Amino acid sequence: MKAVIPAAGLGTRFLPVTKAQPKEMLPVYDKPTIQYVVEEAVASGIDDILIVTGKGKRSIEDHFDKSFELEYFLEKNGKHELLESVEKISELADIYYVRQKEQRGLGDAIYCAKKHVDGEEVFAVLLGDTITISDIPCTRQLMDTYEEYGSSVIAVEKVPKEKVEMYGVIKPKTLTEDLYIVEDLVEKPSPEEAPSNFAIIGRYVLENEIFDHIENTSPGVGGEIQLTDAMRFLDRIYGYVFNGKTYDIGNKIDWLKTSIEFALEDEGIKEDIIDHLKELLNERV
Ligand code: G1P
Repeated sequence: MKAVIPAAGLGTRFLPVTKAQPKEMLPVYDKPTIQYVVEEAVASGIDDILIVTGKGKRSIEDHFDKSFELEYFLEKNGKHELLESVEKISELADIYYVRQKEQRGLGDAIYCAKKHVDGEEVFAVLLGDTITISDIPCTRQLMDTYEEYGSSVIAVEKVPKEKVEMYGVIKPKTLTEDLYIVEDLVEKPSPEEAPSNFAIIGRYVLENEIFDHIENTSPGVGGEIQLTDAMRFLDRIYGYVFNGKTYDIGNKIDWLKTSIEFALEDEGIKEDIIDHLKELLNERV
């Protein structure tokens, strides 16, 4: 299976940080966000990844490219551990790029992948502003569900009612404990309109016919072509309750929380961080 990672958005929620750098390159502790996402695809068994970029996104390509100068420098100075971590990034997968020329929404960004995934029955989509952590990678869980049930499948998670308007939301019909038939989908509904509080978390396995549906989808919320709206035309789609932890880093506060949480996983600095946080809390609470 091939994977598509849309990374073309302007990152307005992160301005001014994102004025001249892509939001996908924002670090979550010690790695750019998009590296976690690429690593999830690779850990799921995918080695062909298309990143949909746009203007001002060159650093993403540089990040996954080989850096001879840097590698030579690290080698010469005996920094072997760093060298290994840098080399590994450029060897992760075959990564291809295509540009979305105009900001016309997520559905349109996915449409830019049409030629790349031509002839594939299904493909995976991983949004760059969500990191997932689980023993079996989220995308792999979706791929396994597709193999078993044979239709498009999207990962969903319960969110507090007041947060539904940040997401695409499904109308679920119970099939098994963690699998629902999606009867309808609404992009960014108000809490009153939301058909449930099962939100789409940004991981999808989609059948190729989605491209025909995107072609027939008019601009929706925000005047943009929404992937959620195009998915409504799929004959059958499943909502899979992801077994793992989701980190939505598409906004400043959640990004900051995730960075701290990931830093606390590093035994080498954990104590320092805890001491610092305690100090800050003592001063403020
Ligand atoms: C996008 C999708 C939405 C999904 C969300 C997950 O919205 O359109 O359906 O729930 O990602 O993060 P965005 O966050 O780009 O506004």
